[in-house]
Amino acid sequence: MKVVHTIEELRDQLRGQLRVAFVPTMGNLHEGHLALMKLARQHGDPVVASIFVNRLQFGPNEDFDRYPRTLVDDIEKLERARDVYVLFAPNEREMYPEPQNFQIQPPSDLGGILEGEFRPGFFTGVSTVVLKLFSCVQPSVAVFGKKDYQQLMVVRNMCRQFQLPVNILAHETVRDADGLALSSRNRFLEPAQRSEAPQLFVALQEMKARVEEGHVDPDALERHAIEYLRKRGWQVDYISLRRQRDLLAPTASEISAREPLVVVAAARLGSTRLIDNLEI
Ligand code: PAJ
Repeated sequence: MKVVHTIEELRDQLRGQLRVAFVPTMGNLHEGHLALMKLARQHGDPVVASIFVNRLQFGPNEDFDRYPRTLVDDIEKLERARDVYVLFAPNEREMYPEPQNFQIQPPSDLGGILEGEFRPGFFTGVSTVVLKLFSCVQPSVAVFGKKDYQQLMVVRNMCRQFQLPVNILAHETVRDADGLALSSRNRFLEPAQRSEAPQLFVALQEMKARVEEGHVDPDALERHAIEYLRKRGWQVDYISLRRQRDLLAPTASEISAREPLVVVAAARLGSTRLIDNLEI
């Protein structure tokens, strides 16, 4: 695997390549990330991954400074998995040589709800860096995880509206044996919190089961799930039943008519914020 730190070296490595498959990450790689790279390999050649902790997508009180940076370990994992041909690991000055005054603003009905409501500016930061990374790598395919369901939709919509020639593929959420979705932030959980953490997925599964049993009142379904987690000591930002197509709230009649739905959730254990979702 070639590790490059500048856009110029990246371009040198990729000259003339028309089927590049790309997996952008912020590093601290786990099996979820590696699964995306495996999928990328089935859909393009060469596979390019990036590791860049993007300051633009972190709010002033978020964990940018403590976000785990483990490049040496990450390189070792990628070498062992043998799916990636070029790793692009730029530093801040390479990606943002000057203040990023042009930014991509997703529409508020997609970028301002759920994660966007609790993390103002998050999807602007994500869209902007993804567009910049796409313009560096010029992939024909890029792989994103369903773990970040709303992010996947924002990126898909951005590509469609800007007619970017990048095919966006989605990978299912990779979980630990106990159901906890793999995440770089799981390492911040204390042992007791780590044992509690799978309950977020339990709450999602419970809501899915209730919908499938015929419960159609979205507010009652949400109240039930929020209560369940609160009683166990979680601080819930949201746990919400939404339509898959636009992440807006379904009506009771849409729920009965089996509109494709997704339960999306974000909740905190102590200072660690976890997100997860489940399609119905
Ligand atoms: P990061 O959190 O590192 O995630 C990189 C990619 O891995 C994303 O597409 C994410 O959805 C996927 N991913 C993370 N955990 C996963 C899991 N358990 N199962 C499946 N896929 C998983 O998301 C970002 O970085 C950044 O916002 C980025 C897109 C790189 C822009 O900065």
